[in-house]
Amino acid sequence: MGKRKIVTMPGDGIGKPVLEQTIRVLDAVGFEAEYIHADIGWEFWCKEGNPFPDRTIKLLEEHKIGLFGAITSKPKDKAAAELAPELQGKGIQYYSPIVAMRQHFDLDICMRPCKTFKGNPLNFIRRGANGIEEPEVDCMIFRQNTEGLYGGVEWTNPNDQVYDALMTHPKFKQNFSWCPRPELAVSTRILTKKYTARIIKAAFEYAKQRGFDKLTVCEKPNVIRETSGMMLKLAQEIGKAEYPNIRVEDVNIDAMMMWLTKNPENYNVLVASNMFGDIISDGFAGLVGGLGFACSANIGEKVAVFEPTHGSAPKYADYPVSIVNPIAMILSAVMMLEHIGENDKAAKIRKAVAEVVAEGKTKAYDMMKMSGKPEVVNNGAASTIQMADAIIAKLK
Ligand code: NAI
Ligand code: MG
Repeated sequence: MGKRKIVTMPGDGIGKPVLEQTIRVLDAVGFEAEYIHADIGWEFWCKEGNPFPDRTIKLLEEHKIGLFGAITSKPKDKAAAELAPELQGKGIQYYSPIVAMRQHFDLDICMRPCKTFKGNPLNFIRRGANGIEEPEVDCMIFRQNTEGLYGGVEWTNPNDQVYDALMTHPKFKQNFSWCPRPELAVSTRILTKKYTARIIKAAFEYAKQRGFDKLTVCEKPNVIRETSGMMLKLAQEIGKAEYPNIRVEDVNIDAMMMWLTKNPENYNVLVASNMFGDIISDGFAGLVGGLGFACSANIGEKVAVFEPTHGSAPKYADYPVSIVNPIAMILSAVMMLEHIGENDKAAKIRKAVAEVVAEGKTKAYDMMKMSGKPEVVNNGAASTIQMADAIIAKLK
């Protein structure tokens, strides 16, 4: 078998340096791959009117595994203004290439692990009976990645057909029919049984493999009765039929945001629909180091793409020395290695990161609670490259 081919999509801004350093770490652990560059992001919107070009789709179709940095998105008017002059006025609309990628390849399972690295100065602490405590967080969030509030089925000033359909619902008629139609904005939250069951099963499987005896469903079934209700009911049914040793716990999303700041160690496997999963995973990420540490996997039946959850941080993109923390991207690559069965190499990198963090000699500016100015590297913060160097040194 030849070298494994990985499609690399650095994208915009800090996506480039963090991906570059991640590949150095992958090389250092002995992962033999051929990296195939693919275009994505703002540059291609401006030049070609398409932030997710067909050639990138083809590469992902062919090679199946992607490493993705981050992209820049801008509001409608800015997107239109920055489009190449020859493409302007043709009605070309900007869309998010990440949402498009998830939908195109049906990357419906999003996994976002939030795990404490001992010694990280950004770890969550609380006041306990015997003084300050630092509970260890180890939580995997399973976020449905393609449906729900991110489904894109929405209208402002809905047309007759949509409006008439809405009027058939007694609650709409009672509560919203007073509103002039042009002043009405509607976003739907559509869940299908198939994809809801898939995310729930993925979460149960993970819990089973790791020996956790509880799955927490993070929704709001008491209010959002149809969609959240379906998710909870399916989780209970699937649990009863296939995972009798795993208890299904029902915690409302709002309450969860409170509980995670009180006793985050009580949660190991969470499942939620798209928007709630996004919210809850940011909440947990804040307990274990924030954006510099938050990694994720987007997994479909054929294709899988691994990415840090942070964006392109454009203000840091042009510093002479890159200061951003590459750990989120490196940990995303670790998830990739696990996905393709390279568990030893994944474990080695994770251990190397853990050692660097525990030692505390090499810290990116975010771990020093500095504001991200170019001069942080003169004040003791490690640059992006130095952080990768420290991790690589532990691999040797
Ligand atoms: P952002 O995640 O790019 O940056 C927010 C702040 O977090 C930064 O200013 C920086 O202080 C910190 N930060 C982010 N990554 C870091 C790292 N690796 N190390 C240290 N600190 C880090 O989010 P923001 O500013 O809201 O958006 C910037 C652009 O990124 C926008 O165009 C947005 O649309 C896009 N975006 C893209 C995402 C993606 O590609 N998946 C996700 C989120 C935003
Ligand atoms: Mg987010």
